[in-house]
Amino acid sequence: AAIAAGATALALAGCALVPGSVSSVDEAEFTNELAIPPLAPSKVVDGTRVFSLTAQEGVTEFRPGVKTRTWGFNGTHLGPTLRAERGERVAVEVANDLDEPTSVHWHGMHLPPEMDGGPHQEVDPGGTWRPTWEIDQPAATLWYHPHPHGATEKHVYRGLAGMFLLDDDASRAADLPDTYGVDDIPVIVQDKVIDDDGQLELEDDTGEPGTLGDVVMTNGTIGAYQEVTTERVRLRLLNGSTARTFQLGFADREMDLVATDGGLLDAPVRLEHVRLAPGERAEVIVRMEPGETTRLHSFEADLGGVVVPFAMGGNDAFDVLELRAADQLAPAPEPAWEKSVHAEQDALHEDDATVTRTFELDDRKINGRSMDVGRIDEVAEVGSTEIWEVRSTVPMPHSFHVHDVQFRILSIDGDPPPPELAGPKDTVYLEPSTTYRLLMRFDDYADPDVPYMYHCHMLMHEDDGMMGQFVVVEPGQEAGTPPSHGRGA
Ligand code: C2O
Ligand code: CU
Repeated sequence: AAIAAGATALALAGCALVPGSVSSVDEAEFTNELAIPPLAPSKVVDGTRVFSLTAQEGVTEFRPGVKTRTWGFNGTHLGPTLRAERGERVAVEVANDLDEPTSVHWHGMHLPPEMDGGPHQEVDPGGTWRPTWEIDQPAATLWYHPHPHGATEKHVYRGLAGMFLLDDDASRAADLPDTYGVDDIPVIVQDKVIDDDGQLELEDDTGEPGTLGDVVMTNGTIGAYQEVTTERVRLRLLNGSTARTFQLGFADREMDLVATDGGLLDAPVRLEHVRLAPGERAEVIVRMEPGETTRLHSFEADLGGVVVPFAMGGNDAFDVLELRAADQLAPAPEPAWEKSVHAEQDALHEDDATVTRTFELDDRKINGRSMDVGRIDEVAEVGSTEIWEVRSTVPMPHSFHVHDVQFRILSIDGDPPPPELAGPKDTVYLEPSTTYRLLMRFDDYADPDVPYMYHCHMLMHEDDGMMGQFVVVEPGQEAGTPPSHGRGA
């Protein structure tokens, strides 16, 4: 009934959108211990920290005895957590053991365009790609995932994704729980459809906004619980879904939001829940009492006036992860720090902006155009500060992501952003018919020939062409010609 009502409402809104094909999320029993992605081993060679990732096929038992074909990095599903220090040079050996091209994009990372891992850096089956760059940005919870032209949804959905954590002096000085897997917990939230044969299903002709799963998993665990042994626990939340937007929080307590996509906030923000569209991250601190149990929950999301919340993955409430506190909890500090540690973010000044660009998103295009790997859509000069005005012009939301930079949201329909959207961001949920003004600066890595991407992170939209390309050039330089990778739509 909810589906039918939703379809009618959207039709009335003058938009021929069909709601997602899958019903609401099943109630899980929270009896499975949360899988913690291992920290990726690395070796330091000539001052460079070197990681290895191999994209491969495998079989995963999400449910006991049910063998599901999945893809993973260095394993059957998801990938290890990469971790590096600001100022370090890193390299990753990315090997492709799949039968088709893939790529690995470092989502949120500031790095040269040829290291970005987008559709221009695909890796052929049997091939290896070796990007290397210097970590030059504040501590943050970033992630990595494939970005092959037209096939990103499938690759992420089958399991190719992992976290990439960055540390720096400021993050260490902040009083935050920081023991990985103990009081500092990666939480990759994803929804899936597991069909009668136990296989992951991704339909071609799904409705908006793409496949919505009836199974929710955290780090690949259905119905997961995590033992808590400290008074405070830090959850690094990543919406790694292909389509669904979550509104995550606890019914019985508030939490402190301490970081958004690109790093720490100026100060912790106490809130009940945080909305995360595909690609967005949030770090929250949760307080626990000895012996108690609580559950991270996805509330019916406030999707900003979208008239078919179910279809957008919002009108669906379910538990995500159970936290079980031990009878004795080790003391932990209250999150607190000085605003002065965030010099980079503060250094973005609206007065410095010399260029304003407009991006209008309809249901599949940006500014009326579909992605073309051979076309440069925007040219930014190195050193320049820009304002990007982004708007969904149709009655549906999008999740707008810009490669290379962390931006600051100046305003949302003229109003200042709420505190949870005031920190460093690389991805933002676009409520329909709402204008988001984003402030960003292109500090370095000029290259007229190799573009970065901007796109919707609802991955069916991205694959359907809701993506554009920009290059960063030296002042006065013209855009070159993107290298043809010989594949594509
Ligand atoms: Cu997370 Cu262009 O992607
Ligand atoms: Cu979209």
